[in-house]
Amino acid sequence: MNVITSPDDVQFYSQRIREQGLTIGLVPTMGWFHSGHLALMDKAKRLADKVIVTLFVNPMQFGPSEDLENYPHDFDRDCRLAEELGVDLLYAPEKESMYPDGFATTVHVKGLTTGLCGGDRPGHFDGVTTVVAKLFNQTLPHLAVFGEKDFQQLAVIRKMVQDLDFPIEIVGHPIVREESGLAMSSRNTYLKKDEMAAALSLSQGIACAREMVGRQDTVTVGQIKDAVSAVILRHPQCTIDYVEVIDENSLMSTDTAGSDSRLLLAVKINNRIRLIDNSTLFGKERI
Ligand code: PAJ
Repeated sequence: MNVITSPDDVQFYSQRIREQGLTIGLVPTMGWFHSGHLALMDKAKRLADKVIVTLFVNPMQFGPSEDLENYPHDFDRDCRLAEELGVDLLYAPEKESMYPDGFATTVHVKGLTTGLCGGDRPGHFDGVTTVVAKLFNQTLPHLAVFGEKDFQQLAVIRKMVQDLDFPIEIVGHPIVREESGLAMSSRNTYLKKDEMAAALSLSQGIACAREMVGRQDTVTVGQIKDAVSAVILRHPQCTIDYVEVIDENSLMSTDTAGSDSRLLLAVKINNRIRLIDNSTLFGKERI
C-alpha cells in the first residue's frame, strides 16, 4: 500500500490512475479504524479499480470545546488495517498542507445544515464540506463512499456534489453495529465500562420505536419520540441533544411515520461523549 502526505503528490497519483483508464473509489475518514470504516473500504473496493482512503482529523469541523486534541489515533494500526484490506493508497495530509497560512475559503451548504447536528455543533458542517471538497479535488475520485451513521453528513455531501457539479458518485453504506446493537464509532473508545449501558440506550430506543410502529397501526410521531426519550432517560448519565423523526430527503421534522421517515438521535453521555445513531422506522436493517 502506498502512503502519501502531500496534496500535489496525491493529485499526481490519481491523474496517473485516470490516464490508465482505471476508476478511483474514495473513503474519507478521520482514522482510528473500526469495522464501519473497513466496510466502507470494502464497498469501495468492489465498486472501483483503485481505493484511496484519506486519514485527516479535520480541525475545521471541531468546535472549540470538542475533542480535537483527544481524538483517538494510531497511524501504524490504521495503516496495517487498510493494507490488510487491500487499500491501494492511504492519503494522510498534514494540517499545514490542508490549511496553509492565509487559507480563506469555506464551502457552506444552506438549509440541510441548520438543524439536528448543525444546531448543536455550529460551523461543523462547513468544516466537513470544505475538507471533503478539498479531498475530492486532491484525490479525483469517480465515486466516494460515506456511512449512513452520519446521516445528515451524507445528505449534506450529496447536496454539495449536486450543487457544485462534482463529477463524483456518492455511495451510502448502512450503519455497522456491534453485536450489542451499538453503532460503531471512533468515539466509542471514550466509553468507560459503567457508561456502556447508557450508550446502548440509543440503539435500544431505536429498536423500541421500530417495535411500536410494527405493533400498532396508529402511532404518532409524538408517541414515538416520547417512548424513545424515555428509554434513553432511564439512564441518568444521558442527556438528549435531539430525538427527531425526519423526512429522509429534506431532513425536515415530520408528523407522519412513513417509509420515507427516519429516526435520528444525538445523546451525550456524562456530558463528555456525544453519540449519534439513526434508523428507518420500517426498513429491514438489524438494530
Ligand atoms: P469518520 O467519523 O472517521 O467517519 C468516516 C466515514 O465512516 C464516514 O462516512 C462515516 O459515516 C463512516 N462511519 C463511521 N461509523 C460508521 C458505522 N458504524 N457504520 C457505517 N459507517 C460508519 O465522518 C467523518 O470521519 C468526517 O466527517 C469526514 C467525512 C472524514 C470529513 O472529515
